[in-house]
Amino acid sequence: MTLKKMPLLFGGDYNPEQWPEATWEDDLIQLQRAHINSLTLNVFSWALLQPDEATYDFTMLDKIMALAGRYDMQIVLATATGALPAWLVAKYPDVARTDINGRHARQGMRHNACPSSPNFQRLAKALAGQLAARYHDDPALACWHISNEYGGQCYCDNCAAAFRTWLQAHYTDLAAVNAAWNSNFWGHTFHAWSEILPPMHLTDMIDAGTDKPVLAGAALDYRRFQSDAMLANFKAEKAAIRAVDATTPITTNLMSTQKDLDYFQWAKEMDLVSWDNYPSFDTPASETAMKHDLMAGVLQKPFMLMEQTPSQQNWQPYCALKKPGEMRMLSYQAVAHGANTVQFFQMKQSQNGIEKFHGAVISHVQATGQHETRVYREVKQLGAELAQLPEDLLASANHAQVAVLFDWPSFWGVEYATGPSRQMDYVKQVHLYYQMCYDRGIDVAVIGKDTPFDGFAAVIAPVMYTASEQLSAKITDYVQNGGTFVTTYMSGIVDDHDNVYLGGYPGSLQEVLGLWNEEFDALPPDTTINVALGAGKTCSASFLCDVTHPTTAQVLATYDDPQLFYTGAPAICQNDLGEGHALYVGTQLDAAGLETLFGHIAQAAGLDLTGARPFAGVEVTHRYSAAHTYTFAVNTTAEAKRVANPAPAGVDLLTGGTPGKELALAPFGVAILQTAR
Ligand code: GLA
Ligand code: ZN
Repeated sequence: MTLKKMPLLFGGDYNPEQWPEATWEDDLIQLQRAHINSLTLNVFSWALLQPDEATYDFTMLDKIMALAGRYDMQIVLATATGALPAWLVAKYPDVARTDINGRHARQGMRHNACPSSPNFQRLAKALAGQLAARYHDDPALACWHISNEYGGQCYCDNCAAAFRTWLQAHYTDLAAVNAAWNSNFWGHTFHAWSEILPPMHLTDMIDAGTDKPVLAGAALDYRRFQSDAMLANFKAEKAAIRAVDATTPITTNLMSTQKDLDYFQWAKEMDLVSWDNYPSFDTPASETAMKHDLMAGVLQKPFMLMEQTPSQQNWQPYCALKKPGEMRMLSYQAVAHGANTVQFFQMKQSQNGIEKFHGAVISHVQATGQHETRVYREVKQLGAELAQLPEDLLASANHAQVAVLFDWPSFWGVEYATGPSRQMDYVKQVHLYYQMCYDRGIDVAVIGKDTPFDGFAAVIAPVMYTASEQLSAKITDYVQNGGTFVTTYMSGIVDDHDNVYLGGYPGSLQEVLGLWNEEFDALPPDTTINVALGAGKTCSASFLCDVTHPTTAQVLATYDDPQLFYTGAPAICQNDLGEGHALYVGTQLDAAGLETLFGHIAQAAGLDLTGARPFAGVEVTHRYSAAHTYTFAVNTTAEAKRVANPAPAGVDLLTGGTPGKELALAPFGVAILQTAR
């Protein structure tokens, strides 16, 4: 499902309810002058729309919708259920959440509803239905936006009861739950369903000091249950909309690598993925790229860039301004990775409230119309450029030779595990291998366990802690049919319930990898060991070291450190199986080691590296339509760059010129080269 109207949506969150009505039209005039063509409305207006349970009042929203329509704005209409009205919590305290320590909220900031509250479920659905009935045939409506940034957890009694129901649906009986969780450990055996409570600090099932669970199986199931419960909230509102509106796309704004929700499950229920991109001043460009690719990957489709700040974000420790050109660069980087919209939080900076120092198109300074700001001018210039882009670009999509696997159960499981290392950071680990590819100038897809692997020359699965027997079979199949599969330490260790596979790590992956691991060693921070990479080359390794025994795999690198009792054991192995190859990395390699590893992967997978160039701050990615290849060259740095043109035959859509052999990019400069396919 695509957005109702074209071209590319350029706009974002606008909260006129915070301002006198007399100011709205001025805002719209200023926004339209900056080529803003879309507004996200009504995100936090529940308390205004429904002053009490019996009364709905759409007077203000009607006016805003009508005015926005008059200014040709395409509206992303939120269902306003992301923040609970005070009366609602007072009347039905169960709509609020209970935290991990058992404290039940009396009111709350926002994103604060208990997903299992029958009153929340009923009233949120009713509000979505009211909005849909009222606005579904408004010609300005482009997309529905349900709630806002779902996430967090609730541990209340309603959630406890719903958790038991969830368990009953997923397990045949209580004995199966006890078995899956190995609950005889430390005497947690359950004899009645009612004994099962949410794993939390208060129930002593999650250690308050470390946040590590006693029974990881229980904690993992609780995460699955909470993700499903919030998804059920989303689906209920979606159904209420669908009852009157069969066609307008429905989304909710995701947050990429956030931990709480398994977005591969969520995406199945979404017409369009949208997400909020808030890199910090020190976030590497590769990390932002990976997050975009994950958001393109959960639904295997172009996505909406629902939010980014035009300049500073005040909730980060330092409100660094985006430098001149940086917002434009980040916008094009998103488009390069599959964004079909460029949207901001926010259109107008609030005068008071927790976000008063957050960036906006119309800042405090510009609110009276006296001054035009740098940020406004940059938005305006970008809007003019985006309006010129061909519609064919929006019909294009990314395609990569290499995929990196991201998996929420592994994320949860490996970070819940007590041991082997407190330094374990799942997202960082995935990023390390994503960056290994990114730095070599190739496009990378980010996929899930259920995404088909064929079509990718190589699939890299870092720290794939949780692996079912079916997944191992899928991997074996992929390799046998010519794929190159790569995995690392702390992969294939446990089943879906966090039970360790017996008989050698990594369980059922031993055969495809042609090896087994006997032990894993954790190195203290700042400790490195030497690795011999072959051909006289060496590198250093850190973090974790597997003690590996190859069976059919050949050894490509070994630990080379006389201090270590396992010196000489393999650090990198490759197993050739059927038409394909499986590589295993037993330790965290430094940059030199990753370069060698990438070389082995490229060779095994037969990667086409023509046109790929080592990353030097200029990111090169591609989108393909039936007729054209779009090559994006994005200078992610504040320095001017001269690089070999990755598409010398291309026409730069931003200048209309043909730059030829060399590309000169200004600080944060961008070129979009269109070539015929
Ligand atoms: C999130 C929210 C917005 C706003 C921004 C500020 O993404 O969805 O409502 O608070 O953060 O950066
Ligand atoms: Zn709850």
